[in-house]
Amino acid sequence: MIKFSSKPNFDKDGTVLLLEKSQVSQNRFPGGLPDEVRDAIKHVADAGQFTGEKCQMFPLLHDGRTLVLLGLGEFRDLSMTKLRICVKTVMQSGFLRKINAIEVVPSRDSEEVTRAIVEGICLGTYRWDKYIASAQSETKALDKDITICANKRKANDNIVKVCGAVNFARDLVNENADVTTSDYLEKAIKKLIKGHKHVSMQVLNKKELKAKGLHLHLAVNQGSRREPKLVIVKYNGGSKKAKYTALVGKGLTYDTGGLNLKPTGHIESMKLDMGGAACVIGTLKSAIDLNLKRNVLFVCGIAENVTGAASYKPGEVLNSYSGKTVEVANTDAEGRLVLADAISYVVRNYKPGKIIDVATLTGACIVALGFDYCGLVSTDDSLAGKLIQSSKATDDRAWRLPMYPELSESVKSQIADIRNLGSPKGAGGAITAAEFLRQFTEDTTWAHLDIAGTSYVENGKRQYFGHGATGAGVRLLTHYLQHNS
Ligand code: BES
Ligand code: MN
Ligand code: ZN
Repeated sequence: MIKFSSKPNFDKDGTVLLLEKSQVSQNRFPGGLPDEVRDAIKHVADAGQFTGEKCQMFPLLHDGRTLVLLGLGEFRDLSMTKLRICVKTVMQSGFLRKINAIEVVPSRDSEEVTRAIVEGICLGTYRWDKYIASAQSETKALDKDITICANKRKANDNIVKVCGAVNFARDLVNENADVTTSDYLEKAIKKLIKGHKHVSMQVLNKKELKAKGLHLHLAVNQGSRREPKLVIVKYNGGSKKAKYTALVGKGLTYDTGGLNLKPTGHIESMKLDMGGAACVIGTLKSAIDLNLKRNVLFVCGIAENVTGAASYKPGEVLNSYSGKTVEVANTDAEGRLVLADAISYVVRNYKPGKIIDVATLTGACIVALGFDYCGLVSTDDSLAGKLIQSSKATDDRAWRLPMYPELSESVKSQIADIRNLGSPKGAGGAITAAEFLRQFTEDTTWAHLDIAGTSYVENGKRQYFGHGATGAGVRLLTHYLQHNS
């Protein structure tokens, strides 16, 4: 549990004292620090043992208590990402492993510092270890009693809540694909919204999808023994007049590529392909936990892209909910098919003011931007600008890619209204996929986040994230909803 206290007490079994380099060289330590501890720090500083370099850790013992000095370097050279990494590192260090009550004393109090410390702890120490026997008896860092010194602000508790939502999304992605099926996701959403009168949900199963004509969504799921589902959660936290903002997530519980089967090396991590839906569900959890005063539609297009006798086939032409026909040039470009139907269904039936879709959509986005920034595509400069602002404020990074009229050429088909593969082959795959989606938005203000690279860490670490899901997009979208109407 994380609590906040406006003054340091130095009374816990463990203390982490964050010190900037100049504070160390000038012996400027926080008030309330016991004299002996002050002398001990001076001693190791004078001896040149602790200089306050970025991420340097130095343990001291006093009265049977452990105090870990954590160097930050000079504050002006410290990025808030690096601060998160340093905090994660100290919380996972052997010095604090067996200590259950820990006080964290920052070198200065500001909103961005507090946010970085909370996220360094909550997001940095998250570990998916459900299937590791030896991990079950350990106390998790997040179950410890942690006090952070920061002036009381409502925002502090909210940051902790949003981290809980991020980790909730991570659990959904990390769990086995044969556990997080469409039924499982539906139940998880039901459980989240239970007891909240301003939140309701509608689920379209196979039968309803057929009756309403969401043929693209159905086709993608055709080889699966599970039910396809379009889940739409109505969250009415705002005024009656305010239009909905629709968040639409790609929920491929597994993506084998279908008959255009993915090769070894590309298929193994494809439980991550519901990262967009997990982001939408995580953001729904944030909205509920923060009691968000907005009207939002949380939409998940859920399917499984697997091979079988019934699988949909490359080269065929399908009808869509919108009425446009689609040439399936490649069954592995399935996300845009599910999203196209979900987007047109939401546009026609709910008339949202804005749509933001989130999807692990293209490997091409990873080629373009790597793993640290998701791709943002939008036809609306104002919406794109606001999303970039939220991205910067939360360190949930997004970088804008272009969208322009000539792109419509790239998704033309010889035999249908549109093709699910961009041309020329291998050129601008992230933006041709976005162009495909745009053609189903019917001019609704729209933005698209391609989180293919950011949603998952394959080997080792990235920033303050360990192996597995990152919950990409939850912090960004929660911040966006909080600060814009
Ligand atoms: N889910 C994948 C995209 C992906 C790739 C996500 C790697 C995360 C990591 C998507 O459905 C896909 O297969 N896209 C194809 C599109 C291609 C066939 C036009 C791709 O990116 O190769
Ligand atoms: Mn695919
Ligand atoms: Zn996919």
